[in-house]
Amino acid sequence: LLNQIELAPPDKILGLTETFNNDQNPNKVNLTVGIYKDNFGKVTTFPSISKAQKLIDRELGLNKNLSYLPIKGGKDYAENVKNFLYDESCSSSDTTKNYGKDLLDNNRISFAQTLSGTGALAISAKFLSLFISKKVWIPNFSWANHMNIFNKNGFKSIYNYSYYDLKSGQLTVDKWLSDLRERVGQDKSDEPHCIILHACCHNPTGLDPTKDDWDKIINTINELRMVPVIDMAYQGLESGDLLKDAYVLRKCIDPKYVWDNGLFLCQSFAKNMGLYGERVGSLSIVSPAHSPSTVKLAVDSQLKRIIRSIYSSPPGYGSRVANLVLSDPALKSQWFKDVHGMVNRLQSIRDKLSYNLEWDTVNDEQQHGMFYFTRFSLPVVQELRDKYSIYLTDDGRLSLSGVNDSDIEYVCDTFRKIEQL
Ligand code: LMR
Repeated sequence: LLNQIELAPPDKILGLTETFNNDQNPNKVNLTVGIYKDNFGKVTTFPSISKAQKLIDRELGLNKNLSYLPIKGGKDYAENVKNFLYDESCSSSDTTKNYGKDLLDNNRISFAQTLSGTGALAISAKFLSLFISKKVWIPNFSWANHMNIFNKNGFKSIYNYSYYDLKSGQLTVDKWLSDLRERVGQDKSDEPHCIILHACCHNPTGLDPTKDDWDKIINTINELRMVPVIDMAYQGLESGDLLKDAYVLRKCIDPKYVWDNGLFLCQSFAKNMGLYGERVGSLSIVSPAHSPSTVKLAVDSQLKRIIRSIYSSPPGYGSRVANLVLSDPALKSQWFKDVHGMVNRLQSIRDKLSYNLEWDTVNDEQQHGMFYFTRFSLPVVQELRDKYSIYLTDDGRLSLSGVNDSDIEYVCDTFRKIEQL
């Protein structure tokens, strides 16, 4: 059987960095992966994070505690992350009441520290496919790994909703919702449909729905009794304000929505704390208000069982760093500034691209986050890679922070040349 295994395709995002690393062209530019780089092309550690690392090193003894964490991660981490997500991020001027605080007070959140957002999504997919549903809706343009994760973790039916129109470069929220009404609304089976929602900074298009659109979207998926799986990998990178960016979460936990089969939040500190390789994130599952407390206990226990069967327990170091930043007021306020600084630099790159290339859409009000969707066709993307050693993902996504003072001229000259063809 072993010799019948087919060669798997290279990863659509991380695989390109492998190719890039082997490229000998001294002018090569990597605009693929969503890693924030400074103006010198370096992946720098944020001041808040490096201060937390030093504190851990000096006062607690760096990596002296090498024992196992519990299956669902550290208790302090859980408390601090839950407070950050469901208390701080849920008290905002755009909501009349902090419903997240009620969820915490009423112990309705099953929580697990996960291996970043990918880990949270994979555990969700496993859990959902075992107990709730094997049907999921993913936007027609989405992070390439969404399909992979749900496909490899038990999902039988993966559908695309119309999120974005490539021709016009616009969101297609009305079409998205009419698709769902038609297809989900007419499905008479008992198995609910899950739906992936990008909380902000949509990957790959960078285009997010407006708040009014989100209200319509959430109303519709609630009417259709769908199971929301919120992927919040870029909190803070939309507006520069970490708390403000959790609109979709705040909206979804309004008690007028019941979510009979739970609300899933997959969250990551990879981007907003720059803890990429440390794999720090969380999965929370909010049980419905009407369910007896035994439901949450059962969910907790099954989460543990799934995690134990895959990687036993999460790694310790990165989560200790995140935990310290979240629990120390001075570090936390530094972290808020760090995120602000990152968003300012991303904006300055948008401004430069818009100025140099007359790309107006790069500065659209609804454009957020690390990426710009060039809408270059695959042959153009391939030519950029093969002839000029400028690397974008196959779908034409450009990771903005890969552009810096030393490569912007080369990148813009090449894009201009290519657009004239
Ligand atoms: C990306 O989309 O480039 C990032 O989320 C990195 C990854 O894991 O794919």
